[in-house]
Amino acid sequence: MNEFRPGLEGVVAFQTEIAEPDREGGSLRYRGVDIEELVGRYPYEKVWGLLVDESFEPGMPDPEPFRPANLTGNAPSDLQSALAHLSADWELRKLVDIEPEDARDDLARLSAIAMSIVAQSARVADGKTDPVPDEDVEQGGIAAEKFLLRWRGEADPKHVQAIDTYWICTAEHGLNASTFTARIVASTGADAGAAMSAAVGALSGPLHGGAPARILPMLEGAEKLGDPAQYVKNLLDRGERLMGFGHRIYRGDDPRATLLKRTAKELGSSRYEVADAVEQAALAELKRRKPDRPLPTNVEFWSAVVLDTAEIPPDLTPAMFGCARVAGWSAHILEERKTGRLIRPSAQYVGPAPRPASEVGAAPVPS
Ligand code: ACO
Repeated sequence: MNEFRPGLEGVVAFQTEIAEPDREGGSLRYRGVDIEELVGRYPYEKVWGLLVDESFEPGMPDPEPFRPANLTGNAPSDLQSALAHLSADWELRKLVDIEPEDARDDLARLSAIAMSIVAQSARVADGKTDPVPDEDVEQGGIAAEKFLLRWRGEADPKHVQAIDTYWICTAEHGLNASTFTARIVASTGADAGAAMSAAVGALSGPLHGGAPARILPMLEGAEKLGDPAQYVKNLLDRGERLMGFGHRIYRGDDPRATLLKRTAKELGSSRYEVADAVEQAALAELKRRKPDRPLPTNVEFWSAVVLDTAEIPPDLTPAMFGCARVAGWSAHILEERKTGRLIRPSAQYVGPAPRPASEVGAAPVPS
């Protein structure tokens, strides 16, 4: 195919057996299992197993003891750099040189440690320099509880439910920007730490995993003005995008948004009413302005509200997304490794015609 497609929209780059976002029908299946069946029945670490091993057992292991050096409290940045460092610290071997089981085990270790790194970074952001002892963390049950114990030293059951649900809903979603990045790096035969760390970088942008950080301020702005419809109009009139709306894949409802909205209500979120009002206003205004382009609520909108019920600060939301997405990245890295084919698309050159260097500027004077 030689046609240029901005943003690669609609380009089929891979075949995958991992997840199936149903574009029109509003459902999302992991290895064929609808996420509706998973939430509340299997904790995140078992869903990791489903995605990576196609089996709930043994699932993602507990993280091994690890104290990352030089944590800044900026969690995406801490996660990205610590994962890259672990390639060297753990002497991870190149994916191209190892057996599939060893690659899987590297990814399991990295996935588990990602949660520990984010929890420890969040603790530093809270101004606490003393890590929670590992024995205290081990008292916890599921991964979401251990995450909270490692971060705050305590875990409210409602917060655990919010995080576990959020992690399951966002564990995997086909070929998004960060997963594509992970697959590109894996296709070069690099080690699993390099692939994961690159994926975290891709996730940190506001058009991908960084959107929830901008959603709560939007809800607060709408509440302050007291008129959600006018508030979204003002944003759009200023040429801004409404965070949490629009998706490259879904033209119908994003099933994750539906599930997370229900969870926000069940958990008694204090932001539920304003979020619902902003959502209705945004959908109506986007439909009025872009009648031919469906821009439904995406996963990020209600994620922001659910994470808020667990008192997750907006700045931490991209890293929370990273914790969830380690499952999808791991599964895709393994799938990519199987193909053994370097990813190397083409670019269409549209720059200047051949010309002499003198046309660009005078030659430097040799010193
Ligand atoms: N608010 C206002 N206008 C929008 C929005 C939005 N949220 N999303 C798309 N549009 C408009 C664009 O301005 C564009 O208009 P134009 O044709 O007049 O220029 C048109 O709709 C199509 O937009 P694209 O950027 O081509 O749509 P695309 O499918 O590439 O974008 C994206 C998807 C990036 C998610 C986009 O909808 C967006 O920026 N949303 C806001 C950010 C966000 O919520 N990100 C989280 C995504 S979910 C995830 O990553 C897990």
